Amino acid sequence: MPRIAYVNGRYTPHADATVHVEDRGYQFADGVYEVCEVARGHIIDMTRHLDRLGRSLSELRIEWPMARRALEMVMAEVVRRNRVENGLVYLQVTRGVASRDHYFPAAGTTQPSLVVTAKRSDPAAAARRAAEGVKVITVPENRWERVDIKTVGLLPNVLARQKAREAGAVEAWFVDPDGTVKEGASTNAWIVTADGRLVTRPAEFGILRGVTRATVMDVAGKLGLTVEERGFSVEEAKRAKEAFITAATTVVMPVVAIDGDAVANGHPGEVTLSLRQAFFDVAEKTRA
Ligand code: PDD
Repeated sequence: MPRIAYVNGRYTPHADATVHVEDRGYQFADGVYEVCEVARGHIIDMTRHLDRLGRSLSELRIEWPMARRALEMVMAEVVRRNRVENGLVYLQVTRGVASRDHYFPAAGTTQPSLVVTAKRSDPAAAARRAAEGVKVITVPENRWERVDIKTVGLLPNVLARQKAREAGAVEAWFVDPDGTVKEGASTNAWIVTADGRLVTRPAEFGILRGVTRATVMDVAGKLGLTVEERGFSVEEAKRAKEAFITAATTVVMPVVAIDGDAVANGHPGEVTLSLRQAFFDVAEKTRA
């Protein structure tokens, strides 16, 4: 069955899904995106993802490409047409196509571009990975200050994750000059303290306010766990009882080593696995 993408008003075979060479996303990274998990035929936490999309768009003064309700329908349709039971739906909105010029195009001369794709993933492989846990490395923070906006300008993130892979890890944590962990290249970072409290950095600035992060806070509430929003250092993380990362692509994933040093006994922790276990029940589920 061929994959189908939605591009600017059309459902089209993935292989032919193209945007114009003067799309501002392509030339200036002048656009934003969202990635939602699809689990058991449901789009997870769509409301939070589209709320964040609205915020990203308004911070960059890009219009919604269509009404929010219509966008929800396109996302569900792309998931259905690709028969994705478990996987991801990706959406990207850019300022549109215009003759290359740094200034915004004059009002009314271009429409935002919208692309929506979906792909399958293997839940059994993800479960195996969660049972083993993943390794992270740390890298100096080198991104701009507005990482709270989910823009497609991800070059530092790409370079950091590639560095992680080449070091035998899966994720890179950006770290401030004072040693405080910010977040991963495509995940939020958490630790569990000796007395079982969850710790993650505040999301007012300096990191992306993860949707999975917000839902994990709900899950923690249901499990009677306390969440502390404060910074933690790489050293504290290495000495922590547990560490984990969250994102739509990984849900809750145990971290078992940081820069080659084991976290606790080097195995996934109980609290992390209980959060992963309870996640689907607590998250918002929209039938695709
Ligand atoms: N990344 N921090 C960064 C820098 C991210 O890029 C992401 C998500 C997150 C976690 O956010 P959420 O829980 O809403 O997925 C944190 C997506 C999945 C990506 O770029 O593929």
